[in-house]
Formats: sequence, structure tokens, C-alpha cells
Amino acid sequence: MAQDKENRERLQKVLAQAGVASRRHAEQLILEGRVSVNGVKIPALGHKVGTEDYIEVDGKPVQRSEKLHYYLLNKPVSVITSVNDPQGRPTVIDLMKEVPVRVYPVGRLDYDTSGALLLTNDGELAHRLMHPSYGVEKTYRVWVQGPVGISALDNLRQGVLLEDGNTAPAIVERVVCGVLKKSTEKSKSDRLEILEVTIHEGRNRQVRRMFAAVGYPVLKLERVRFGSLSQGNTLRPGAYRALTKEEIQELRTKAGL
Ligand code: URA
Repeated sequence: MAQDKENRERLQKVLAQAGVASRRHAEQLILEGRVSVNGVKIPALGHKVGTEDYIEVDGKPVQRSEKLHYYLLNKPVSVITSVNDPQGRPTVIDLMKEVPVRVYPVGRLDYDTSGALLLTNDGELAHRLMHPSYGVEKTYRVWVQGPVGISALDNLRQGVLLEDGNTAPAIVERVVCGVLKKSTEKSKSDRLEILEVTIHEGRNRQVRRMFAAVGYPVLKLERVRFGSLSQGNTLRPGAYRALTKEEIQELRTKAGL
């Protein structure tokens, strides 16, 4: 998850507040290399953590005492998935001013992608949901200039070679094929096609790169489902809601919690 420099505290202090050990003993645990943050061992003093960070001692999660909050945001385009932006662009956190605690986005949607985004202060859940081993499925609605050929569809389904390696098999379905421009009679290629693609990886700009690689640059991209969560057209762009108990439980189960 994104980091928020202002609200960070020393690791040994957080461990002491969580009742793991006294502050001095916590320092010792750190120096002995028994403490990790977000899966990375921190064997030296001076490291600071925020509420979003997932801490383990001897491989066991540290339970923090704050109340946990979970929200689903319908992220609009032209908003950055970050806690703050050096370029001063609006962030997803700016949209959530009424939320009483600091929450952090779980994963990222591009500046020009809209749709379902989970935000929480539950660092352990977030850490797991973002980890590839839990294989959380994400479904995207993709607008391209079609019609998309069968071989491109097969390629997307089986895996596309990108510069960071082959993508895993994906589910790809046609949703709508319509007219993109008025003067289409001459050329069949002036048609708008909407597809839905479900992936369980989370590489940078993955869907855009997959479609570009098979010759269909993405015109518009929206995430319609994140794991068991879907906004189902109930949230206007920029709106958010708290998750229900059942939704939280479903996500926790998926994450093995
Ligand atoms: N894939 C992309 O290309 N962009 C996103 O925002 C999410 C997935």
C-alpha cells in the first residue's frame, strides 16, 4: 500500500503499543532480525511504519489495536491512486475526506482507469490481497476499436508476452460490439468493441499492455470487480461506501484470515 510519511511511527514503538514486548525488548527483536514489515526483514533500528504496514515477529502477524475500516470507492478517471501526489493531482484520499481514519488503497488503478478500488487500514488483509500467491481475481471492462480477431482473443486468453514475461491465462469475453464512427460502411474496423477480462496478476498497466501487445490499444478501462467486490453500478464515480460484514468476511476468507 502507499506510504504516508506524516503518520508513521518507529517500529519498536508500534510493537510496544501492540503489546508484543517492551520498547527495549522490541529493539532487540528488531536487531535479531525477527521482525519483518510487509514481508521484508528489518534488522536495524530507525524504520518507521504506518497503520497500513503489515508487521510480523517470527513470522507471526502483529495485531494492531485500531478499529479496522473497509471502503469500496468507484475511482473516477483523472485521480491518482496514492495518498499524496508531488505533482498536486487529486488523489483517491481527497475523495474520502469524511472517512474518520486514514485508509490506504489496496493496489493501484492508473490515473486514466476508473472503477472498483478497495481502501482500508487493515494492513494484514491488504498485504495478502496484493500478494500474487492469493490470486485475487480482478475483472476489467475494456473498450477498444474492434472487431477483435479470434487469434487476438486466443492470445489474450492463453497469455501474452510482455517485456516483464508472459501473462498468466486470462478469461476474456466479448460484451458489446457497436459502431465507433458514423462513416463505418466502408471499413469494418471502425467499430467499438467492449470486452471483459479477468486476471489474477497485478502488474503495472497490465491490461493496457496486454491489449496493445495484440494490436488493440485500450480506449477506455474500468475495473468492475475486485475479488468478491463489485460496485454493480450503485456508486457514481467518486462515491464510496463501507463494506458490509459479509463482504469483509469474504475477503478475509479469500486471504486465508
Ligand atoms: N491494468 C491496467 O492496464 N490499468 C489499470 O489501472 C489496472 C489494470
